[in-house]
Amino acid sequence: MRKKFLQKILTGAAIFSVASMLLLSCAKDGKDGLTGPSGANGKDGIDANQTCKLCHNPAMVDSVVSQFIYSKHDYGDTWETEAGNTGCGPCHLQEAFKYVVNNNVPVAFTFNSTTGKWENPYASADYAAYGKISCYTCHDKLHTTYGLSDLTTFTTTAPVAMTMLGGAKTINLPQGGGISHLCAKCHQPRPLTVGTSGIAGGDGRLFPYDSLKNFPNTILWDSTTGATQYWLVPSYRTHNHYGVVSAVYAGLGGIEFTGTSGYLQYTNSKHTTVATCQDCHMAPVTGQAGGHSFRVRNQNNLNAGLTSGSSWNFKGCNNSNCHSGTDAMSAVSGGRFTTTRATVKALLDTLAVHINKLGDGVHPILHVDATSTSGAITNLWLGVSSKNYDGYLDIYDSPTGSNPNGYWVTSSTVPTGKKKLPTMKFVHMGAIINFQFALREYSLGIHNTKYITALLTNSIQKLIDSGY
Ligand code: HEC
Ligand code: HEC
Ligand code: HEC
Ligand code: HEC
Ligand code: HEC
Repeated sequence: MRKKFLQKILTGAAIFSVASMLLLSCAKDGKDGLTGPSGANGKDGIDANQTCKLCHNPAMVDSVVSQFIYSKHDYGDTWETEAGNTGCGPCHLQEAFKYVVNNNVPVAFTFNSTTGKWENPYASADYAAYGKISCYTCHDKLHTTYGLSDLTTFTTTAPVAMTMLGGAKTINLPQGGGISHLCAKCHQPRPLTVGTSGIAGGDGRLFPYDSLKNFPNTILWDSTTGATQYWLVPSYRTHNHYGVVSAVYAGLGGIEFTGTSGYLQYTNSKHTTVATCQDCHMAPVTGQAGGHSFRVRNQNNLNAGLTSGSSWNFKGCNNSNCHSGTDAMSAVSGGRFTTTRATVKALLDTLAVHINKLGDGVHPILHVDATSTSGAITNLWLGVSSKNYDGYLDIYDSPTGSNPNGYWVTSSTVPTGKKKLPTMKFVHMGAIINFQFALREYSLGIHNTKYITALLTNSIQKLIDSGY
């Protein structure tokens, strides 16, 4: 019964049904016409069962569904917490993601002459701000032709104009038919806007990042007067959000400090032009890693941070196209993988030391969250830096705010036990953005060793040159 029904749909039997309906209505009112000549035999229909089985079999959809359970796309909860939020939806909610793709929603800020403010247009319509990330988020053509092409056509593979930069730069990774753009559309940093948190005169414009690079010694926030440049008063969550990976991968978006002595050139590692996100993140399955888990690391507690007990899925790295023979990747100490990561981690730790020199030598400026792996993990980057920074600043807001135990204050009155945040310069803000990039790309340089090494080295050097 079901088979026949499906066969009908698949052979375009709908046309026959319309025809027979017309015949029926004729038969009611008029006389029967002459019998026409026999039509040509129709094409054989596709056996519905066979079409379904292309995908619905243990090796395809069934096993992929099991892998997906290990993916944070599935077990993460932001699709619930951000439901209804049109600005967060493009990356957190399935329907909003499809909305921004299908409507080609732009990322360049626009000026609203009525309010006198700049606005970020990158949002979905209200009616589309829902939906959990699922198979249909990336495979939006499923059940369209019922052929395998439904699986190989993705929601988007177009280069990604960066929302962080209001579209001034585009992430373009053409290898593999641009398949990395599917990931980059969501895994990209968000814009730092200024003057939106109730600061008089603030007009919500995109932060002029280039100023940080070009005028490192300009004061961003003056501790004595409270004066700010670009209406930016540093706060606990002054950041570019979490999804920095694709920017780092493409070698874009960092504050690219330059100087004469001790500075590196900004270049990209080979991955940027030859590898796709899928190569490493959807490699053949090993434990909880690979395939549609989208993970590179196999670990028992999905919510655990980076621990020494982590094991890796190197199946994406080690093949004749990429790394083989003596260049094969492994977790062996002293090997290329571990050495790269250890070197980048050391640079990250050193940059933290120099950023924290802004403080009093006792309390770091960068916020630490070392909540143990046994409890609920609040620091997504636990274990990435030695001191367990999370990329936020240890700035106190209020007893009920997001960082009630924070140490530094920017308000004119300083509560007991807290201290006024020292004067912060452009060099600090730039270095902090780069620290956030390097921490939150999470791979400790594997994504783009050369770019992340240059960003970290040059940020350290610029802080030293500026006396920190
Ligand atoms: C090109 C691959 C492909 C083909 C062909 C295909 N499906 Fe699917 N189907 C999928 C995927 C992927 C899912 C999502 C799996 C999930 O969410 O568990 C799915 C889900 C479903 C579901 C679950 C309902 C839902 O939307 O989550 C049903 C029912 C279904 N398919 C029926 C069929 C039937 C019947 C056929 C043949 C007429 C068919 N499919 C052909 C890939 C395919
Ligand atoms: C629709 C937007 C979207 C797309 C497309 C997307 N991701 Fe994600 N991804 C997210 C979000 C949002 C999260 C975090 C979900 C949460 O915590 O609720 C995430 C989580 C992840 C994580 C886990 C991160 C962690 O903290 O454990 C990995 C790895 C990942 N994505 C890789 C990829 C790869 C690789 C692709 C492309 C094949 C991809 N993603 C495509 C939005 C997306
Ligand atoms: C440009 C895409 C994008 C937009 C817009 C966006 N996010 Fe995200 N967000 C991500 C990605 C990607 C991740 C996962 C990063 C990772 O784990 O590597 C993430 C992670 C998060 C997390 C951490 C989830 C966890 O795993 O614990 C929270 C919370 C979050 N986002 C909230 C928001 C909120 C609130 C908004 C709107 C104000 C928002 N996001 C807008 C891309 C985005
Ligand atoms: C974040 C994006 C994303 C999501 C979500 C996603 N897929 Fe995929 N899927 C891909 C990409 C990319 C490929 C191509 C992989 C490649 O070429 O290596 C793929 C390939 C496939 C294939 C082809 C064979 C294979 O195993 O690679 C199947 C089957 C499939 N997906 C099913 C599903 C099902 C079922 C779900 C939901 C449980 C799902 N996908 C969710 C991105 C996604
Ligand atoms: C050369 C291999 C490789 C490529 C290519 C690659 N990644 Fe990664 N990625 C890694 C490694 C290794 C990690 C660290 C994983 C870990 O510690 O669990 C990682 C981590 C991540 C994470 C954070 C996972 C987490 O648990 O927080 C995200 C998100 C991510 N990558 C997205 C991407 C995106 C998007 C692309 C393409 C633009 C990409 N990656 C390309 C190797 C790669």
